[in-house]
Amino acid sequence: MPLTPPGRGGGSSSALPKRRATRQVFFIESICDDPDIIEANIMEVKLSSPDYEDCDKEEALDDFLKRIECYKTTYVCLDEEKDRHLSYIKIFNVGSRYLVNRVQDHIQSRIVYYLMNIHVTPRSIYLSRHGESELNLLGRIGGDSGLSLQGKKYASVMADFIRNQAIKDLKVWTSHMKRTIQTAEALGVAYEQWKALNEIDAGVCEEMTYEEIQENYPEEFAMRDQDKYRYRYPKGESYEDLVHRLEPVIMELERQENVLVICHQAVMRCLLAYFLDKTADELPYLKCPLHTVLKLTPVAYGCKVESFYLNIKAVNTHRERPANVDVTRRPEEALRTVPEHF
Ligand code: F6P
Repeated sequence: MPLTPPGRGGGSSSALPKRRATRQVFFIESICDDPDIIEANIMEVKLSSPDYEDCDKEEALDDFLKRIECYKTTYVCLDEEKDRHLSYIKIFNVGSRYLVNRVQDHIQSRIVYYLMNIHVTPRSIYLSRHGESELNLLGRIGGDSGLSLQGKKYASVMADFIRNQAIKDLKVWTSHMKRTIQTAEALGVAYEQWKALNEIDAGVCEEMTYEEIQENYPEEFAMRDQDKYRYRYPKGESYEDLVHRLEPVIMELERQENVLVICHQAVMRCLLAYFLDKTADELPYLKCPLHTVLKLTPVAYGCKVESFYLNIKAVNTHRERPANVDVTRRPEEALRTVPEHF
């Protein structure tokens, strides 16, 4: 039912017409009557709950089935006739059928789209940055350089690693940038290039070192440290922009099964933050080192993460937030956390 909260705080002196805040309620009902799905769900999800700690599996299953019988006595399903004025989606047997009713706005249609695209088939998402690039070696951000010698070694070792995993129907995605494409080439399989996976656009700072940014744009550098998620490079992007750019990629990742995404530091942070439910403050500082594959496997209420460092040396490109982020700080304070480079 759309709720229109009554105006608060009395009249307004503004001559402008006020837009009334409306809040729409959207119901999501998941109906499952397939005994196999119910049993599998209890085994995978409920048995790990504190209620069934140290409990025999069969006893726990029996107990939870009784619990469902109790819920049935009070739970009221959305009624197709009586509730026809409500906005809702009914999901039957984890997506074998859907009933969508009165979608009223953009957000609701996106919720529907999202729910109709997620699935519960077991799968893993593999995330890797490209191999070390020529510009990484020099401590320069952005650009479109090729792989360094070490980067090429990583591409071939990563290909062996992926082959050894024997992943069923693996899809491989790259950005449009040379370094991810060169990394994927070593796999010797088909891959799909996504422009949306390109690295954050650092605008006027592209191909600069952090030291050069401090020297040429000290205020910009400090402002980025103050709010790295929202800070937008002049003529470039912010992490927030990147999150929006990546939305279609994330939606497609939800639809797919096994995928290897070969991407970039900032992009990998955004993807990781989505799957691990990290905040906007944490996101730009997530550690995504070069030459390391992260394997994400969705499990009940989250994602299992396994990290594989493939033992090929690479430069460190992670710059921590320095203690002093004031625009009046001295250059050495601004540069205290810059990683070493040639
Ligand atoms: O340094 C490698 C890199 O991928 C750059 O191309 C990019 O600008 C940067 O990392 C993003 O990391 P941060 O947001 O920490 O500067």
